[in-house]
Amino acid sequence: MKKTCLALTLATLLCGGAAVAGNSARTNAMPEWDSDQLEQILTRANTGNPVEGERLHHYLYCSACHGHDGNSPSRNWPSLTGQKPDYVMKTLLDYRQDMRRDHYRKAEVMTRMTRLLDETQMADLAAYYASRPAPVVPPQTKPLLAKKGARLARDGDGKRGIAACSGCHGEHGESGITPDTPALAGQTPEYFILAMKMYRDGMRTSDLGGVMRMFAKPLTDAEIEALAHYYASLGSKREAMR
Ligand code: HEC
Ligand code: HEC
Repeated sequence: MKKTCLALTLATLLCGGAAVAGNSARTNAMPEWDSDQLEQILTRANTGNPVEGERLHHYLYCSACHGHDGNSPSRNWPSLTGQKPDYVMKTLLDYRQDMRRDHYRKAEVMTRMTRLLDETQMADLAAYYASRPAPVVPPQTKPLLAKKGARLARDGDGKRGIAACSGCHGEHGESGITPDTPALAGQTPEYFILAMKMYRDGMRTSDLGGVMRMFAKPLTDAEIEALAHYYASLGSKREAMR
């Protein structure tokens, strides 16, 4: 309870008003974004300086987990390269507002780190990751699983109300239709699976209007795994760099 109050207080401070409380009852009192407040705060996303972002990436040890240039060397951490600045800036604000949690408390490190960052630094980091090329195919990608995931990603499943993922995340997972929709190509499968399950379990409430929580709900674990390997397989092919 205390933690939730803290999150709401932070959120209110950050957004300067009644941003968050809206739909909280539906999601176990986790904070959520209000679209106007989010739009306002994201106007800063494109003002970042990538050179300063690169300095911060190393100075703040982001590189220790996310890799030398944001292309993650490990199955434990997501790659950050190839994302649009709005999405990265938004995720940093999401963590700061405690909108991302998981059963293994992996997100906690990010929640703590983002409370030390100001919005200029967030925009600089976002500009740096956006300036780097999309991630390469992670070594743990399984081609057979990837094949299974492809159909669902491209066609969805009308009978179960699952929209085609590619409609929003791009035909090749390269980028979203809106600047705050993430690219998925080359993303670490372990991270992808965790993210989908956290939407499904209502532990990640960062998605505006609950879109991802809605699409993740009907998916089975096997389908999520196949989708993760499909998107990982769409990374660029310079495997030796990984
Ligand atoms: C100790 C390891 C560690 C360090 C250091 C670290 N991160 Fe992370 N980061 C993670 C993990 C683990 C996740 C995924 C957590 C989750 O499931 O939400 C993550 C997620 C992220 C995401 C969200 C990615 C997405 O696709 O939504 C961004 C952006 C990010 N980190 C940026 C940073 C920046 C910037 C720094 C430095 C200020 C940093 N990280 C330092 C481990 C780390
Ligand atoms: C209506 C548009 C839409 C559709 C359809 C959609 N997504 Fe998303 N997706 C989004 C948005 C917007 C976000 C960012 C949400 C947030 O900020 O948490 C997102 C986030 C994600 C993330 C988190 C990425 C990260 O880096 O943390 C994954 C994984 C994902 N979607 C996979 C899928 C899959 C798989 C499907 C198909 C079953 C799908 N999405 C369908 C819009 C969509």
